[in-house]
Amino acid sequence: MLTKSEFAARILNGHTPSIKEKATAFASANIALVKYWGKRDSRLNLPVTDSLSIDLGSLGTETTIEHSPDGQDTVILNGNKLAQDDPFAVKVINFVDLFRNALNQAAANRPALTITTNNNIPTGAGVASSASGFAALTKALDQFFSLGLAGRELSLLANLGSGSASRSIFKGFVYRHAGTDPDGMDSYSEPLPCTWPELKIGLITVSAKAKRVSSRDGMERTVATSPLYKKWPDQVKSDLAKMLDAIKAKDFELLGATAESNALAMHECMRAATPPLNYFEPETEAIISKVQKLRKEGLPIYLTIDAGPNVKLLYLNKDEEKVRTEFPDMRVVNR
Ligand code: DP6
Repeated sequence: MLTKSEFAARILNGHTPSIKEKATAFASANIALVKYWGKRDSRLNLPVTDSLSIDLGSLGTETTIEHSPDGQDTVILNGNKLAQDDPFAVKVINFVDLFRNALNQAAANRPALTITTNNNIPTGAGVASSASGFAALTKALDQFFSLGLAGRELSLLANLGSGSASRSIFKGFVYRHAGTDPDGMDSYSEPLPCTWPELKIGLITVSAKAKRVSSRDGMERTVATSPLYKKWPDQVKSDLAKMLDAIKAKDFELLGATAESNALAMHECMRAATPPLNYFEPETEAIISKVQKLRKEGLPIYLTIDAGPNVKLLYLNKDEEKVRTEFPDMRVVNR
């Protein structure tokens, strides 16, 4: 089994870096319509199952990498210069080191870098920024070192930061392969060749607080203790087949029903863990009931929920006014 450094080196070896003055890259956030929950290898962040997502358009992260004038690595997040031991700064620098080490920068010529990262995901939109954050950082590193990595390689590397970041390398519908290779080289994402401009996403923020249990810890607990987890891989397999059919046929009811039942099954699986893992707030439950009631009354609207209390609505453009009237606080994603 490889370490993260060995994994990165395997992809980056053979690429000759040519260092630029400065490089900037943007990556969109994404939401999974069929979720990733559980790792087959926690060190390399390799998932148990495939997953499928859609990008969140202009919501995401822009990252700039440039030489540090004072010879010290510096991380600036949303305009704030972070302390060297800030956990976010440490994560970013460790990730950058995967590139610097693999690219064999001799100590004397190892560039000290300033990494400036801005999330335009409004605080409180209930959308995680780690996916777009690590994807934008990976793309910016690729450009800064003039590596010309392929999309598949970028997705393999971004995954070392966060599993969902692998999908944020691409736009549109993205399919993430779990792969079976113990070294993880077949655990990459790829874009699906279909667009669906009519499909809309609305974000409802229930709480803007950071999650109580991180995805990493939540997954570990679920895999280790939830009796429902043994059924999860089969559910994902069947949901992925339905989702691919739905996207191909532009069958919104099938897409929505599959996404909603996949998300609710994931949360059921978490709640069966010991101790139970419940990311919902009472308002989350109220929104779920309201969506299901509206649907019974004839409005084609569905939902999905990640590892938090916030709800993402799925609907078609033609119904936007009705959905807005029912959920005036909803933030429509600009795709
Ligand atoms: C519920 O990608 O945040 O959003 O790989 O540990 O960083 P790590 O986890 P992360 O988990 C995402 C979980 C999810 C479902 C999904 O996005 O597929």
